[in-house]
Amino acid sequence: MYHEIDLDNVNLSLQPPTEEPARQYYFMAKCLKWVRDFTKKNGRFPKSCVTTFGCQMNARDSEKLAGILAKIGFVETEKENQADFIIFNTCTVRENANMRVYGHLGQLTPVKKKNPHMKIALCGCMMQEPEVVEKIKKSYRIVDLIFGTHNIYKFAELLSACLESDRMVIDIWKDTDKIVENLPGERKFPFKSGVNVMFGCNNFCSYCIVPYVRGRERSREPEAVLKEIRQLASDGVVEVMLLGQNVNSYGKTLDNPCTFANLLQQIEEIEGIERIRFMTSHPKDLSDELIEVMKHSRKICRHLHLPVQSGSTEILKKMNRRYTKEQYLDLVRKLRKAVPDISLTTDIIVGFPGETEEDFEETLDVVRKVRYDSAFTFIYSKRTGTPAASMEAQVPSDVVKKRFDRLLAEVQNISAEVCAVHTGKVMPVLVESVNDHDQSLVTGRLSNNLLIHFPGDKSLIGKIVNVKLNECKGFYYLGSRTFDQSENF
Ligand code: SAH
Ligand code: SF4
Ligand code: F3S
Repeated sequence: MYHEIDLDNVNLSLQPPTEEPARQYYFMAKCLKWVRDFTKKNGRFPKSCVTTFGCQMNARDSEKLAGILAKIGFVETEKENQADFIIFNTCTVRENANMRVYGHLGQLTPVKKKNPHMKIALCGCMMQEPEVVEKIKKSYRIVDLIFGTHNIYKFAELLSACLESDRMVIDIWKDTDKIVENLPGERKFPFKSGVNVMFGCNNFCSYCIVPYVRGRERSREPEAVLKEIRQLASDGVVEVMLLGQNVNSYGKTLDNPCTFANLLQQIEEIEGIERIRFMTSHPKDLSDELIEVMKHSRKICRHLHLPVQSGSTEILKKMNRRYTKEQYLDLVRKLRKAVPDISLTTDIIVGFPGETEEDFEETLDVVRKVRYDSAFTFIYSKRTGTPAASMEAQVPSDVVKKRFDRLLAEVQNISAEVCAVHTGKVMPVLVESVNDHDQSLVTGRLSNNLLIHFPGDKSLIGKIVNVKLNECKGFYYLGSRTFDQSENF
């Protein structure tokens, strides 16, 4: 396995190899040498800080960045202003994600003045937008390294260039068809892990920037996914979260096509994996085959995140979502028939251009009909370059704000009722951590994704135990352990 490569055995007097991932291991060895020199000179290891914005895919990418930094000898710190190397893995899905990055850079400006040796890097989705890179080049000279989403696998090479240069290093690719396997990665949790199954998106929902910054859809080979999950299982991981912008279209672009349902069935066979989650599912691609597999699975969690975005067929059409309100509701009916205890969550955008009061009422109607366990609600954010940005009838912000508040109240009332239906049941819980506020409690997750707190200690972390759901507190439960059921899910 590549991640067992000993960097001390890499011969740095040779030219760097051209093939991947060997090339990146060569540059890791070079960075390791830099780290050793730093340590000798300063009497301490250099510290790194990885800050992540955005979705689970970005979080997974950050684990890969952290894995490389750890392999070359950086010590992790959570305190940005104490780090020698800071990297922001950015998101640009809504304007406020961008604002937060500029906010952090503003705060770091005086810190870097005091510590000029500090290196600051930016990567991720925001960097795929040329206007952003221009702005940083002009107004944020404290930045030392910029790269994008397509060449993240080159991190070691870019870091090596950055450590050896006093100039701003910039490397952005427009697109890629490449997937580089076998680079080192870290995991935030020992017992659960995200696993990429596909990258990019071909859907071009008219409001969304993701297809422009993440490029065209490409799936990993099923064997590569299975190999990674087998390795995770042998490292003690019991829960995997399969990640992709649209997992339901997994495998379509492979030379030997494989459906997502089929991939799930193969993952189900892997011993040691007890729970399988996935996100995100696009309603238009959710197949009967997948519903059938979910119905019979022992391991796929009873939870589906199924973004609706709007309840109005008219708006859905303008959003280029390619389903109607009725088709969405039919799909929900079909899912609930096959998997009656399934918990459904969603994403909703309020204030898409042209949204009328009637359109918004249709969204409320879907919320009332589906009765989601929870919903992420977003105010529409105009993204330059997307078709929706140039649509007429952008909705005034005071109207949007009022609709947003009404939607939020409705979603919260319903989800408090829906979540409470399990009160009194005994359910399997994967214990994730000791409770932040009360050290006598642990916090775990139900198959349906709800959190529960109950008496226990850290020896339970990573274990699946049966817990009685005594009291629902809106979005989480308080419970107590029971020992009379077999603990096997
Ligand atoms: N691929 C996933 C979601 C990716 S982005 C999917 O298709 O469901 C996560 C969520 O952000 C989206 O579901 C959408 O609700 C929201 N979103 C995307 N672009 C947005 C925009 N321009 N303004 C507001 N919300 C947006
Ligand atoms: Fe964006 Fe639509 Fe792709 Fe999701 S499916 S990432 S919302 S374009
Ligand atoms: Fe944001 Fe990029 Fe994810 S834009 S939501 S981090 S794919």
